[in-house]
Amino acid sequence: MQTRNVGDIRVGAIGLGLMTFDQSGTQPRQQLLDTVRAALDAGVTLLDTADAYGPGEEKGAGAQGENERLIASILDELGVRDQVLLATKGGHVRTDGGDWGLDSSAEHLRRAVDDSLGRLGVDQIALWQHHRPDPAVPYDEVIGTVKEIADSGKVAKVGLSNANPDQIRAAHAVLGDSLVSVQNQFSPAFRSSRPEIDVCEELGLAFLPWSPLGGLGGAKDLAETFPVFAEVATARGVSAQQVALAWELAQSPVVIPIPGAKRPQSITDSAAAADLELSADELARLDG
Ligand SMILES: NC(=O)c1ccc[n+]([C@@H]2O[C@H](COP(=O)([O-])OP(=O)(O)OC[C@H]3O[C@@H](n4cnc5c(N)ncnc54)[C@H](OP(=O)(O)O)[C@@H]3O)[C@@H](O)[C@H]2O)c1
Repeated sequence: MQTRNVGDIRVGAIGLGLMTFDQSGTQPRQQLLDTVRAALDAGVTLLDTADAYGPGEEKGAGAQGENERLIASILDELGVRDQVLLATKGGHVRTDGGDWGLDSSAEHLRRAVDDSLGRLGVDQIALWQHHRPDPAVPYDEVIGTVKEIADSGKVAKVGLSNANPDQIRAAHAVLGDSLVSVQNQFSPAFRSSRPEIDVCEELGLAFLPWSPLGGLGGAKDLAETFPVFAEVATARGVSAQQVALAWELAQSPVVIPIPGAKRPQSITDSAAAADLELSADELARLDG
């Protein structure tokens, strides 16, 4: 698979989002093991979790940290820890009401890093991302806390998520080389992140499109919702989802989409997008 950079680490140009990875529902553990194995076999090496990812709204606050524990145990069972860049995030808090609360206070973010270290079972988090701006905390203060976290040695590199161009520039000015990535929404259905992609390219930051297929509600219907993606896909003999990811990769050499997958077939198909080169004519039609 084609590789791209997150800081000075080379990763497969397609990553794997773990938000919906859970053992509580209809997904047997073996299926999740097979999905991670299929991802690695296809060249996927960037895995994305968050401390707030966990199953079911009904679990409320108890969901916090479940996804981190799950992926740590899967990587250990497969014996592949050293083959992946495992990224996590902090700044969202699951509550008993089923909400995803926000807390970017310094106290919470410091504790979130410590908790993630424990759940992931590592001495240092490879990539820790601030999950989302919190209206209750000025972003400059958040950047100051992220700088403290970056300097603590508890994380190797830091990233931002859901940040706008001004916030990315302000963070980069303070964090320098320890800032390596920005994770924002980007897909055929959500194209307004181009300014953030441009800033990332200018500053040499990886841009990780989240919900790159349109999310749980949109991914399966991508071909019906965006017929031009289906037309290109049919002509190439691939899925519309693969065309969407290849189109995202073509936006900039800093783009590394992180499609979610709970089934091996999904990530195997998505990973092939890294080697699907679209022509200028196809890209112009998809941009249209
Ligand atoms: N930073 C943030 O605020 C934020 C917010 C949302 C998401 N994220 C990140 O982005 C990741 C991906 O987002 P997402 O899961 O919401 O949406 P997504 O990647 O756009 O869509 C995931 C869905 O697409 C299906 N799928 C994957 N590859 C496919 C393929 N090649 N063909 C057909 N269907 C395919 C999956 O099916 P199966 O599951 O059945 O395999 C799943 O239902 C998350 O896991 C998370 O890491 C971050």
